[in-house]
Amino acid sequence: MVSEKMEKALNGQLNAEVYSGYLYLSMAAYFEDEDLAGFANWMRVQAEEELEHGMKFYDYIIRRGASVTLTAIDAPQTQWDSPLKAFEHVLEHEKMVSGLIDDLVNLAIEEKDHATNNFLQWFVEEQVEEEENAMELLSKAKFADGDNRLMYELNKELGERSPSED
Ligand code: FEO
Repeated sequence: MVSEKMEKALNGQLNAEVYSGYLYLSMAAYFEDEDLAGFANWMRVQAEEELEHGMKFYDYIIRRGASVTLTAIDAPQTQWDSPLKAFEHVLEHEKMVSGLIDDLVNLAIEEKDHATNNFLQWFVEEQVEEEENAMELLSKAKFADGDNRLMYELNKELGERSPSED
C-alpha cells in the first residue's frame, strides 16, 4: 500500500507525464505547419514515449492497491517563435519534470516507502537521458539556426527517429 499523500502525488505525476505528451504533440503539430516533417516526427515519437511514462505510473498505482484518478490536462502552448525556441522549451520542461521526480523521491524517502523509491529510480535515470537528449538537440538547433542547409540536414536526421528508440 502507499499512503494517501503518495497516491495523490503519483496521480499528479501521471497527469504531468500525459501533459508532457500533449506538449510534445503540440510541438509536432507546430513543426508540421512549418513544413519540418522530420522535427515533427521526433516530437511525435517523444509524445508517445511520454504517454508510456504516464502508463508506468498508472500501472504502479494500481499494483499498490491505490486508485487512479484522472484530472484535467492543461492546454499546451501551440506556437513557438522558431524551432530553436521550441527546443529551448523542451530542455526547460525536462528540467522541470526532473524536479518533480526528485520531489517524489524525497516524499518516498520521508515516508520510508522503499518500494515507491525503487520504482522511481527508473525515472531518475530516464530524466538524465531526457535532459541529455534535449541538450544535444538544442545544440544542434543552435548550429542550424538561420542556415537552411543545416536545417534541412537536421530535419532529415530527426525524421529517422523510430518509436523503439529513446
Ligand atoms: Fe517523462 Fe520527458 O519525461
